[in-house]
Amino acid sequence: MLELETMFHLHKSAQDGDLERPDPFLLIIFGGTGDLAKRKLIPACYNLFREGLLKEPFAVMGVSRRASSVEAFRDLHHESTSKFSPLFDEEIWRRFAPSLTCMSGDVYKEEMYDALRKQIEEIDRERGTNGNRIFYFSTPPKVFPVILSHLTKAGLIQKQAPSSKSWQRIIIEKPFGRDLASARRLNQTLLEMLEEDQIFRIDHYLGKETVQNILVFRFGNSIFEPLWNRKFIDCVQITALEDISIEGRASFYEETGVFRDIVQNHLLEILSLCSMEMPVTFQANDIRDQKLQLLRSLRPLLGSAIQNHTVYGQYKGYREEADVSPDSHTPTYAAMKVMVDNWRWQGVPFYLRAGKALQRRVTEIAIQFNPIPFCLFGREDVCQMIDPNVLIMRIQPDEGISLRFVCKEPGDRLKIGNVDMNFKYAAGFERRPPEAYERLLLDCARGDLTLFARKDAIERAWEFMDPVIQAIEVEPSLPLVFYEKGSLGPEEANSLLVRDGNRWQEIR
Ligand code: BG6
Repeated sequence: MLELETMFHLHKSAQDGDLERPDPFLLIIFGGTGDLAKRKLIPACYNLFREGLLKEPFAVMGVSRRASSVEAFRDLHHESTSKFSPLFDEEIWRRFAPSLTCMSGDVYKEEMYDALRKQIEEIDRERGTNGNRIFYFSTPPKVFPVILSHLTKAGLIQKQAPSSKSWQRIIIEKPFGRDLASARRLNQTLLEMLEEDQIFRIDHYLGKETVQNILVFRFGNSIFEPLWNRKFIDCVQITALEDISIEGRASFYEETGVFRDIVQNHLLEILSLCSMEMPVTFQANDIRDQKLQLLRSLRPLLGSAIQNHTVYGQYKGYREEADVSPDSHTPTYAAMKVMVDNWRWQGVPFYLRAGKALQRRVTEIAIQFNPIPFCLFGREDVCQMIDPNVLIMRIQPDEGISLRFVCKEPGDRLKIGNVDMNFKYAAGFERRPPEAYERLLLDCARGDLTLFARKDAIERAWEFMDPVIQAIEVEPSLPLVFYEKGSLGPEEANSLLVRDGNRWQEIR
């Protein structure tokens, strides 16, 4: 395979203005000393501060049982932010750190919320955050309703009247519930206390630049839309492989497994963006309406279809990880074939795969076009060299887009090669793409819901996944297969495509 390194020039670019900075606000993180706060949330706040994207004053408060003192809290995040923010600078941290504070407390105890209210009111007075609050629920899902009902009782959050001068919003981490019934219950609880537009159900994949680019690429380029359907596309493959394993998160992972952790949210979001119809406008609810419509078109996987269309596996050695049950049945790998029953996609398989402890980290979408109907070049050996055209949207790492096509190799004989035309973000644009959490925190502070999931779509995604998860967890009718760490996953995932005369795109 040859590779054409093409030159890309940014000829003309349009931005949605440099979006306005949000009002001053206070971000309260439940789980303020946890892994997510350390790796993503505080580094994201620091980066936003560094780029001048947060209007001062703003403040961040971590709530955690382990928060012993403000000093210790700042030190903890100094250490992790210097590790996880590539732009770390001591001088900027020195100016940022005074915005960080913490409170030690048990989220189950009512008296904690009285103390929290006092502290929040003090911050509002001292720093002028004006009653604008984001409550970030970075805790196990079962605690969400507990925290919310205490916050409501303490008067810290309430249904927002349109005339209200300040705003309060919540961000809820995924997975949102663990099945359809629990997601419905959670939605119901939330909507008793809040308006839908105060609820930001986060899926950080939607904050990734390359994921946001899916819609821009589809609807900003007129050459692809006529091809974007069953007449020209043979199959779509969505891959999210990770080289890391569970990284000490056994208690979370044993409860979730790959279907709840990645497939129900990240992969179905990507699938919707790749295949949804054009929204009427680029406004949040128009886009969310189309995503919902697409999710409603997924062919239900029931009965024998689950066995025929699903593979799930576990990496060898998972059961020996700390805090994992020695006979754990939790899947760390999944591959699925999903069909979309609508006019545009009838008959086009969407293959999804995701897993941990694999050979490399790669998330990408491969749109494989139909093979040529007839080979003009006569000779069998020449014709066999022709691969179908493939458009790859590389979500991460090496973010970019490539298009594979067939080309004559120079020479006096007819020799054919497949070449890739590559666009790489790093070479094409000179700015640092913001981290997903930066964009999402900023959007929440601005009240922009476009990149967050709506109640109906979340429930629909669970409705689709529930039968599959049940077939695995309740009286498993599908065998769990095992795969080597550092491999590309179980062989059975290949058979899923071979049965259709397809194969996974080679990861390059
Ligand atoms: C999270 C999952 O949502 O996404 C993790 O809980 C996973 O298990 C992570 O490792 C992957 O995110 P990213 O941004 O590194 O692809």
